Amino acid sequence: MDTSTYAAFDARPPRADLSGTRAAHADGGLSFLADAEGARAALDAIARVQRQIVAAGAARVHADEAARRRLARELHDSVGAELAATRFALANVQTWLPADASPQCAQALELVVRSLDAAAEAVRHVLDGLHAPELEEGLATALANWTRGFGARTGLAATFTAQPSVEHNRKGFTAEDAERLAHLPAEGALAIFRVAQEALTNVARHAQASRVEVRLACTPYALVLSVIDDGIGLSREAARRARKQSGQREDVAPSAQDGINRRGAYGIAGMRERCAAFGGALRAAANPLPADAAPEARERPGTTVEARFFWDTLLSRTAADLAPNPVQGIHS
Ligand SMILES: Nc1ncnc2c1ncn2[C@@H]1O[C@H](COP(=O)(O)OP(=O)(O)OP(=O)(O)O)[C@@H](O)[C@H]1O
Ligand SMILES: [Mg+2]
Repeated sequence: MDTSTYAAFDARPPRADLSGTRAAHADGGLSFLADAEGARAALDAIARVQRQIVAAGAARVHADEAARRRLARELHDSVGAELAATRFALANVQTWLPADASPQCAQALELVVRSLDAAAEAVRHVLDGLHAPELEEGLATALANWTRGFGARTGLAATFTAQPSVEHNRKGFTAEDAERLAHLPAEGALAIFRVAQEALTNVARHAQASRVEVRLACTPYALVLSVIDDGIGLSREAARRARKQSGQREDVAPSAQDGINRRGAYGIAGMRERCAAFGGALRAAANPLPADAAPEARERPGTTVEARFFWDTLLSRTAADLAPNPVQGIHS
């Protein structure tokens, strides 16, 4: 695994270094940073820009949830209601069908009923994805249920595991982890859930995988969600874009074939924004392979999407922090 651009599993949250001297030595030539005041001003400016980026992401996350709710309501009340009414009317027609009606007539009606049922089922699936999940029983339970349903719908072997804290070599979460999880603000839990949903949807759409594992783990500093599949791995272009979005170095040229994947592709960016809005980071990459891996294994390295949310921000950020502030906006 490339560890040069990704913090270790147990990494602490980043902290601004307010020491002017250290900044001056680190920058290798920007002499205006040599005095402590200049360094502090520069660091303040960087922190301000970082806050603006997070605020912009949070505003989009908020808008996305609002749009999902609106779409779910519209779909349910318009298409869902129309389908239900049509289904009801058709059931009446079937009952009223005269005994001497041609068999083709009954067959045609039966066909229409079946496709109406299929359409209603499809709408229900879309609604499932749009609705905020039941989080009352906790994030781990919601993720376990969703993963089970996802496996049933897609035919993939999908499993959910809640891993122990890395510093406690025990099964299950520690009492402290359980306490933190129990007190997750709903917005944070929903953000983690949405990241898992999108990562799983990507596995179903792109990975050609046979199995996928969803893991929730705690470190002393962060809650870590991982979605690991055994599919074909990210295309070169997708990996390049994922690296670019997280500010990593670009070292792979895009191919013509990769251009096919350019349309849409808001999922990874959206997951990243949800992480950032809750003080976290996202990494999407091919699974590491042993040096002596067979050529067939290299064809299908699988993908890991890992989302890390730092406890401090996760536990303190609420809906009010996420709502776009018309006065403050992203300019403060
Ligand atoms: N688990 C995965 N396995 C293989 N490729 C993946 C996987 N997840 C994502 N990708 C690749 O990364 C690309 C970007 O994913 P992203 O979720 O951003 O967009 P999308 O799924 O194509 O479209 P959208 O999510 O906007 O509907 C995908 O088009 C796909 O090529
Ligand atoms: Mg996607």
